[in-house]
Amino acid sequence: MRKSLSIGFVLLTLSFTLLLGQKKSWVIGMSQCNLGEPWRVQMNADVKKGAEGYPELTVVFKDAQNDNLRQRAHLEEFVRAGVDLIIVSPKEAAPLTAPVRDAYKNGIPVIVLDRRVLGEDYTCFIGANNKKIGAAAGRWVVTKLGGKGSVAELKGLMTSTPGQDRHSGFREGIKGSGINVIFEADMKWLEPNARKEMESALARFSDIDLVYAHNDPGAHGAYLAARAAGREKQMLFIGIDALPQEGQMYVKQGIMAASFEYPTGGREAIETALRIFHGEKVQKEMTLSSRFFTKENIDKGGELLTN
Ligand code: FRU
Repeated sequence: MRKSLSIGFVLLTLSFTLLLGQKKSWVIGMSQCNLGEPWRVQMNADVKKGAEGYPELTVVFKDAQNDNLRQRAHLEEFVRAGVDLIIVSPKEAAPLTAPVRDAYKNGIPVIVLDRRVLGEDYTCFIGANNKKIGAAAGRWVVTKLGGKGSVAELKGLMTSTPGQDRHSGFREGIKGSGINVIFEADMKWLEPNARKEMESALARFSDIDLVYAHNDPGAHGAYLAARAAGREKQMLFIGIDALPQEGQMYVKQGIMAASFEYPTGGREAIETALRIFHGEKVQKEMTLSSRFFTKENIDKGGELLTN
């Protein structure tokens, strides 16, 4: 009798708690598209750190190893396991759109981080404005090169949205100037690819004033190719990400002329998840601000990108 009474009491409390939306602990499934690059390792660290002060949160991390199918499977597994929320940083927009939509339509809140999916079937997108970063990079190049010069553009994976936006933004930034993009190649965000593509650029063009890479590993790969050819002093290298231990360090060392920050959004994803768990409405789109770093401003912590 006593036992059934207490079970009844637990059930009653549980249903009240659920009714009031006061669930006491939550499981977040986090699908990272790869952990081969320092920036993504940093994103996971930021998610982990963001969740640290909240013992009621458990984050389950999965690494898709740069494989769309593996990442699709993550999302399906998270849905089957009944996680309370999914954070996903997708490899490519198109292949990840359906599994994100399915999770979302199943009633699981989905936060999409950094790279987008197609359409609007997710709870919230968090990322910096890649078009704006690309345009700022373009304008910076115009000023730095005095309005004219030859540029090699090493693009990020062009089936991912940051690659597309960093490309179109840059083209907008240099429009109307005498800057010519004489070489462009998709290095798919990877330093070894960037190095290989840069070897072709160096073989084809004797005058390259600047390399614009869509991320800092790309800029560094290009630098290594130019150094191997004894030409690294003839050109400038700029990139995007500006991690303290990567892009900012290259700027300090004089390897890169500028790096534009791309914040990981890891902390903001956890803050957003908590708001969702507590029944608050969150905005569909959260745009993070970005700084840029050059030899001149790096000791002062860089500068905020304003437009
Ligand atoms: C890492 C990375 C970053 C880049 C981001 C864009 O995989 O290539 O260097 O800023 O992805 O999504």
